[in-house]
Amino acid sequence: MLKFPKEFLWGAAASAPQTEGHSLMNGKSATTWDKWFEISPEKFNDKQGPSDTSNTYELYREDVANMKKIGMNSYRTSISWARLLPDGQHLNNEAVEFYRAYFQEMLDNGIKPIINLFHFDMPWWLMEKGGWENRESVDDFAFYAKTAFEQFGDLITEWTTFNEPMVHIECGYLYKFHYPAVVDMKRAVQVGYHTLMAHVLAVKEFRNSGINGRIGIILNVLPAYGRSDESADLQAKKASDLINTQSFLDPAVLGKIPAGLIELFRQNNLLPVTEVEDTELIKMNTVDFIGINYYQPRRVKAPTNPKVPAEMPEDLYEPYDWPDKKINPYRGWEIYPRALFDIAMMMKDKYRNIPWYVSENGMGVADESRFKDDSGMIKDQYRIDFIKEHLEQLHRGIEAGSNCFGYHMWTFVDCWSWLNGYRNRYGFYSVDLDNNYQRTVKKSGLWFKELTKNNGFEL
Ligand code: NOJ
Repeated sequence: MLKFPKEFLWGAAASAPQTEGHSLMNGKSATTWDKWFEISPEKFNDKQGPSDTSNTYELYREDVANMKKIGMNSYRTSISWARLLPDGQHLNNEAVEFYRAYFQEMLDNGIKPIINLFHFDMPWWLMEKGGWENRESVDDFAFYAKTAFEQFGDLITEWTTFNEPMVHIECGYLYKFHYPAVVDMKRAVQVGYHTLMAHVLAVKEFRNSGINGRIGIILNVLPAYGRSDESADLQAKKASDLINTQSFLDPAVLGKIPAGLIELFRQNNLLPVTEVEDTELIKMNTVDFIGINYYQPRRVKAPTNPKVPAEMPEDLYEPYDWPDKKINPYRGWEIYPRALFDIAMMMKDKYRNIPWYVSENGMGVADESRFKDDSGMIKDQYRIDFIKEHLEQLHRGIEAGSNCFGYHMWTFVDCWSWLNGYRNRYGFYSVDLDNNYQRTVKKSGLWFKELTKNNGFEL
């Protein structure tokens, strides 16, 4: 039996925009998702928009009861900025009541809430003045963070600022999966820089708030795997590590932007506009812990036709299709559990062994209802195997001394996934959108219950 450390956090992760529903109701103002859906519903799978999510706004009590049923002792979700501060300035009291009741419900049931502040859901009023491209966004975010700490600091001890900041940067400004869906590397870098400063100022607000708790950030970092040891491939790996792994991890944990990244941006004429006091602010406001979202490895090779200066990340490192990869047949992503061990070692050796946890890991499956049995339960043995393989590697990392304090699956109840709508299902519980959002536990949920009960599992 592989046993995990005492008080290990077992749970799941989600976000406000992907679960709450009631998107333009109860005082919440629009986000970029609401507006984008209004403008171009055809971009969304099955024309399912942000108000079609699993209706946690109404069903949170049932959800918390279901969390308890499968032995979860922790849950990460986010606050919606546009719900809490619909115009960026004034509190929406209904939102305060909702979140307080929701968090209290978790606490009453022995589930530790980990609360994140930003999960890709930019309020529209801020987007109208440029979103993260506008330096004002940094102060706007700090004000929002301060408000959240004031309103919920007596209930919440575990906070995070951003979920996967690289994703809203890349998807919004390079790959067109998020609004404003433009392709512009220079703007992407500026957006990234302001996001970093917004994170830093939120940490500063947290320290000033005197809250008894910890603050961190959730990153989809990953040491890249290069095609070969030839120098051009190694250089591509280095560029990928600088951009995808170190860009937020180094400042968050070590208090500085890596010199190599600044140099890379300088060579490519991509340096962002900064302010003099930023370096000191970054240095003074490091985090207490890190959340790492891991799904699939990043394999890279030297770019085939590099451009100088680079116009896209692919001019610095190109994705490499590793011939030996194992694939999730129901979604297409590579499955490579060994990366969790590598991440554990990276955190130990390069990031002062800071406390960290797996804040997301998971397996998306398209058309998952095909795995339903006669009773209506989804028999997702593939997900159980996936979790086991990953936990085995994580366990090795912990045995080798890495300071990992928990493991969260994406996700608890099948949720809405941005442009993909409900195409890929990830939950321990399925949701029936045609039947009042009915939740039904999957086989993996029952397996997870045993795992949490034993604080470990038989290989
Ligand atoms: C990462 C993100 O945090 C989440 O929003 C997304 O739905 C999952 N991965 C699954 O792709």
